Amino acid sequence: MARSKITVVGAGNVGATCAHWIASRELGDVVLVDIMNDGDFAKGKAIDLMSSAPVMGFDLNIIGGMDYQLTANSDVVVITAGVPRKKDPVTGQFPSRDDLVRTNQKIVGDVTREVARYSPNSVIIVVSNPLDAMCHVALHESGFPAERVIGQAGALDTARYKAFIAEALNVSVRDVHGIVLGGHGDDMVPLPRHTSVAGIPVRELLAEDKLQAIIERARKGGGEIVGLVGVSAWYAPAAGTVEMVEAIVRDQKRVIPSAVLLRGQYGFNDLYVGVPAVLGAKGVEKIIEMQLNDEEKAMLAKSAESVKSVVGV
Ligand code: NAI
Ligand code: 2OP
Repeated sequence: MARSKITVVGAGNVGATCAHWIASRELGDVVLVDIMNDGDFAKGKAIDLMSSAPVMGFDLNIIGGMDYQLTANSDVVVITAGVPRKKDPVTGQFPSRDDLVRTNQKIVGDVTREVARYSPNSVIIVVSNPLDAMCHVALHESGFPAERVIGQAGALDTARYKAFIAEALNVSVRDVHGIVLGGHGDDMVPLPRHTSVAGIPVRELLAEDKLQAIIERARKGGGEIVGLVGVSAWYAPAAGTVEMVEAIVRDQKRVIPSAVLLRGQYGFNDLYVGVPAVLGAKGVEKIIEMQLNDEEKAMLAKSAESVKSVVGV
């Protein structure tokens, strides 16, 4: 079987960590692309990662630069290029959301056009924020069918939610099952009714106030890390992204909450929202419509409204 080729655009915190875990799981050859230092930043990170292979035991080609010819015929392209949430060292202020949207919109648009030109059959996974809005940019600029433009958010948000539940109950994270829907913002929708520990409904194990505190913490999980570290997270975001890459290159048909273009599902039209999707070699192979109750529907509608307001910036 031919080896997969995976391009990661943006060799910063999230992109480099994606490359690291893609390599360590031997998902395919890796191309890192970044404009910093005229491509030398990505080249250097690729050489460093490749040099760890004899010790870590993976065997792949890992290259870096800024020339998109290197990326030609990639199977999957992960876009992490952009500006993260970061305090301005002089003013101590965070950039306004609208400024961040406009800056990253330009970057994601430029990157997507190059990616689409050199890898017209690839599946694009968007990571750059604001996530749901950047998915619309990548869809528009690539001209790809929506099945091949997917956003990473639900995999991360669900991972955080599960990790906090495992921590609170002192059980293995492997036995925690659950899902988070909606946009990648503070009004994302963790679903306690669909959360279990080895099949036992979480509400039988955890008091409601503790569960609600975990839901709130998961919703603000990104902000918690920015507050502690001063810049946004990368380990869990990269882990969520690599879970999606693996599902696609290994055609696993995994059910992973992902930002996908809804066309009537859940009552939304032409809008990227996080919902459960079956991911395989073709990208989004199926969108699963869950039976939500009125309260869950209202929360999803609120989250979708937030996505719409950013898409409209
Ligand atoms: P970072 O600043 O460490 O890395 C971003 C990289 O993008 C930099 O190395 C920069 O040189 C590069 N870049 C900028 N413009 C470029 C262009 N036109 N072409 C190629 N490379 C370019 O930032 P980090 O922490 O890796 O975050 C990346 C993005 O991912 C941010 O927008 C961040 O908000 C987002 N993010 C999204 C998450 C999600 O769950 N969807 C989670 C965490 C971060
Ligand atoms: C996160 O949730 C900032 O989107 C990033 O960590």
